[in-house]
Amino acid sequence: MGAAGTVRLVDYSPWPFELPTVELDVQIQSDHVSVTSQLQLEPRQPGQALVLQGVDLQLESISIDQTPLNKDQWVLDQSTLTIAQPPDQPFVLTTRCRLHPDSNRSLEGLYASEGMLTTQCEAEGFRRIAFHPDRPDVLSRWTVRLEADQARFPVLLSNGNGISIPVEAEGRHAMRWIDPSRKPSYLFALVAGQLSEIRDEYRTASGRSVALRLHVEPGDESYTAHAMASLKRSMEWDERVYQLEYDLDEYNIVAVRHFNMGAMENKSLNIFNSKLVLADAETATDGELERVESVIAHEYFHNWTGNRITCRDWFQLSLKEGLTVFRDQSFTADLHSAAVKRIEDVAMLRNTQFREDAGPTAHPVKPSEYQAIDNFYTTTIYEKGAEVIRMLHTLLGEERFMRGIAEYVRRFDGTAATTEDFVESIAAGATQDGEPLGFDLDQFRGWYHQAGTPLLSIDQRWDAERGEMVVSLQQSTAATPGQPVKTPMVLPVSMALIGSDGRLNEERLVVFDRESATVTLQAAPAAQAPALSVLRSFSAPVVLRQSRPLADTLLLLAADDDPFSRWDAAQSLYRDVLLARASDQPDQPKEAALIDALRQRLGALTAGHESELATLLGLPGLAELESLQSPADPPALYRAVMAFRERLAEELRDPLHQLLSAARVGWTQAWPAGQGHRQLTAVAWTWLAADDQEIRREALSAVSGPSMTLARAALRALQPVDCTERDEASRLFEQRWQHKPVILDAWFSMEASMPRSDALDHVRGLLQHPRFDPLAPNSLRAVLGGFTANTLAFHADDGSGYQFMAEQILDVDSRNPITASRMAKVFSRWKTYADDRSALMHQAIRSLADRGGELSANTQEVVTLLLS
Ligand code: BES
Ligand code: ZN
Repeated sequence: MGAAGTVRLVDYSPWPFELPTVELDVQIQSDHVSVTSQLQLEPRQPGQALVLQGVDLQLESISIDQTPLNKDQWVLDQSTLTIAQPPDQPFVLTTRCRLHPDSNRSLEGLYASEGMLTTQCEAEGFRRIAFHPDRPDVLSRWTVRLEADQARFPVLLSNGNGISIPVEAEGRHAMRWIDPSRKPSYLFALVAGQLSEIRDEYRTASGRSVALRLHVEPGDESYTAHAMASLKRSMEWDERVYQLEYDLDEYNIVAVRHFNMGAMENKSLNIFNSKLVLADAETATDGELERVESVIAHEYFHNWTGNRITCRDWFQLSLKEGLTVFRDQSFTADLHSAAVKRIEDVAMLRNTQFREDAGPTAHPVKPSEYQAIDNFYTTTIYEKGAEVIRMLHTLLGEERFMRGIAEYVRRFDGTAATTEDFVESIAAGATQDGEPLGFDLDQFRGWYHQAGTPLLSIDQRWDAERGEMVVSLQQSTAATPGQPVKTPMVLPVSMALIGSDGRLNEERLVVFDRESATVTLQAAPAAQAPALSVLRSFSAPVVLRQSRPLADTLLLLAADDDPFSRWDAAQSLYRDVLLARASDQPDQPKEAALIDALRQRLGALTAGHESELATLLGLPGLAELESLQSPADPPALYRAVMAFRERLAEELRDPLHQLLSAARVGWTQAWPAGQGHRQLTAVAWTWLAADDQEIRREALSAVSGPSMTLARAALRALQPVDCTERDEASRLFEQRWQHKPVILDAWFSMEASMPRSDALDHVRGLLQHPRFDPLAPNSLRAVLGGFTANTLAFHADDGSGYQFMAEQILDVDSRNPITASRMAKVFSRWKTYADDRSALMHQAIRSLADRGGELSANTQEVVTLLLS
C-alpha cells in the first residue's frame, strides 16, 4: 500500500503521446483472467519516455510492433511501467497480464460479485486491468474482445455495440464490442455473468431507435419496471430541456450487489449498485423510488456532461459532477415538487457540505492538490459544485444560461475540458445578445478556488414614513486549512418584502460582491413593518445570520409566497429552541410561538400540499445543530430533540390525529401519488408513538403491509420507544426480508442506530449476523453508519464508540480502502467538542495513525488531515 505522492494542478502537462486506438482481448479462465492490450501510440515529439500505470498486474509478455522487448528495455515498479526509449515513430505496444478478480476485495478494477465479473474504473481503476496512461485527457477508440465459458458467463458486455464472434474451443463463446466514441480509460467497463435481461426501446426526438437493456440477477426481473421508466423519462427530459439526444444504438444498465458507490456512467454500460435499480412500492420507500429515478437520470445525463465532454484532469471533477448534479436536481424538481426538492437539497447541503467546509477536510470545488483522488468524491465537489452552477443559472436566468450550455457543448464536445472552459462558455453564450453579464466573472471564479462557507449577515431598518426597508449586508468567510485569507464572493441574494397579506413588492436579485453594502427595498408607507424575506429559494450557499424580530419570522412562516422561505423560517425557530434546550435554557416564549404557528399550519393544510407540510415539520439534523454550537455536545442535542418532540406531540396531539385520519386515504396510492400522505403519516407516528399504544399498533401492522414507505416509517417511529411493538416490528421485518439483501440493509441500519443501553454489543452482534456481508459496502454502511447515527452509543462518555469505529475502519481498510477512508471522516469534528470528548476522539484517530504503513494511502491521507 504505502503513501502516494501529492498530485498538483500546477504540474499538469499533456501526455506526450497520442493513443488513437486501444484493443483489449480479455480471456476469462476458471482461476484467472488474461488481458492482452494493444495500444497504438504516436509520440508528440521524439525522445519522450513512455510511462504507463499498472497496479497489481502480473506482466506476462511485452512487445513493440510484435517484437518482444528485452529485459533492459523496460522497468517495472509498484505502480508504473517505463520504456525509456520507445520508437520515435508510431508503434503498437502489446502487453499481456494476468489478473485474479476472485481475490480482489477493493471493488476497483476487475472484481467478482455474486458469481459475476464486473469493473469499476473511475477514477484510477483501469490501471488494475492493463498497463495504460489511465488519465482522463487521453481519449481513444476502444475495441474489446471478451471470451469466456458459455455456461458460467453467458452474458458478456462492454462499451459500444456488440456482436457475437466464433470461437474454436468447445464450451466457450466470445463477443466483440466496438465503441465508436473516443473515451478515456475511466469510462471503460466490462461485465460477464449469468444475468437476466429486460429489454425496452426508446425513440429519440430525431427518430432513432435505442435499445434499452437492464441486466439483473435472475429472480430480480420483476423489480425493474421503475428503473426502466426512469431511464426513459431521463432521455425525454434531456431532449426537451437541454436539446441533448442519446448518441448510440444501445444503452445498458447492470445491477451489481458489491459496489463502492451509487452508480457509474461508463459509456453505454452503466453499472449500478443494485439498491439503485431494484425498486418498487413493496420493496422501496417513496424516497428511494425518487432516488433511483434521480440516479438513473444522473448517470444518463453524464453521457453529455462527463462522457462526450470529459475532464482534462481530476482537479476538474466538479466540471462533470457538479454540473450533472445540478442537472439531476432540475430533473427531479421538474417532475415532482420543485419546492420540496429545493428544501431537501438545502437540508442536505447544510448537514453535510457545510460541515465539510467547516472542518479539517475542507477544500475548494476545484482543489489544487490531492494524494488519493478517491477521497475527493466529496459533497463539496458534488453539492457545492451544483450550487455554483445554480448561482450562474440564477444570475443569468434560464434562457441565457441555456445559451451558455449550448456554447459549452459546441466548443468542447468530444474533448477533455476544464472548469474555466465551462465558465467562459457560459459567459460567452449568455452575452451573445450583447447584454452585459451583470456580474464580475473573474470574481465569480472564486467559487471554484476558495473553500469555506461564506457567512452572510443581514440587518434591517424599516422607515415607516417612506415605506422603505433599508437592508445592510455583510459577508465574511472563516479561514480553512491552507487558506488563511478569504476574499468576498459574488453572492446572488434574492429579496422581497412580505406583509401579512402576502408579497408587497417585486422580488429583487441583489448581486452582493463586496464585504458590505446597503440595499433599499421599496414598499408603501405603513405603520406596520413588513417582514424581510432574504435568500429566497436559497439563492446562494451561505450561512445566513439575521437579526430579525420573532414576529417577522412568524409572518414569513405563515405568509411568504416562497415555500423555501416558509420552511426556512420554521427551521430558524427549530434551531433556536433546540439549541436553547441543549444548553438547559429552554426559550418558553419562542417554543409557544412556534407551536402555535405549527398548529395553524396543520389546520390550514390544503390538498396537494402534504409533502410541503411534512417537510415543514422536519426538525434540523444533528450535524447542522452541532455546527451552531460551541463546543458541540451531540448527546445534549440529541436529548433536546427528543424532548422537544415529546412536547410537540403533547401540544399538537389533536391536530396530529386529525391529520393522520385524513392521511390514510393516500396510503395505498401508487407513488408519486400518496407520497405526501405517507410523509405526514410518518411524522404523526413518530411524534405520537411514545405514549399512544393505538398508534404503535397501527404502525406495527404496517410492517407486514404492502407499502415499504409505511413499513419503514413504522420502524422509525417505534425505534426510540422501548416497547414490545418495537421488538415485534423488528422481528417481523427481518423475517419477511431476510432473503433480500438490499432490503435487509435497511433493517441492519435501523438495528444499529437503535438507542439501547447495550447498543455497542448489539452492533457487534449484527456484524456476526448470518446475513451480514462484510464485503458489501451497503451492509457496512448500514451497520457502521447506523452506529455512528446512534448518538448516545457512538458518543458514549467512555470513548468506547470511537474506539470501536477505529477498529472497524482499520479492518475495512485492509480490503476496501475507498470505503474505509470515507468512513474515517466520522471523526472530522473532533476539535469542536469539549475537552474530554475531544481527547477521546483524538485518541481513536491516533490509534489509526499509529498503524502507519499498514494504512492504505486513502485512509492515511484522511487521518493526516484530521490530525493537522
Ligand atoms: N461518476 C460517479 C461514480 C463514481 C464516483 C465512481 C467515484 C467511482 C468513483 C457517478 O456519476 C456518481 O456521481 N454517482 C453518485 C450518485 C449521483 C446521483 C450523485 C454516487 O455513486 O454516489
Ligand atoms: Zn456523477
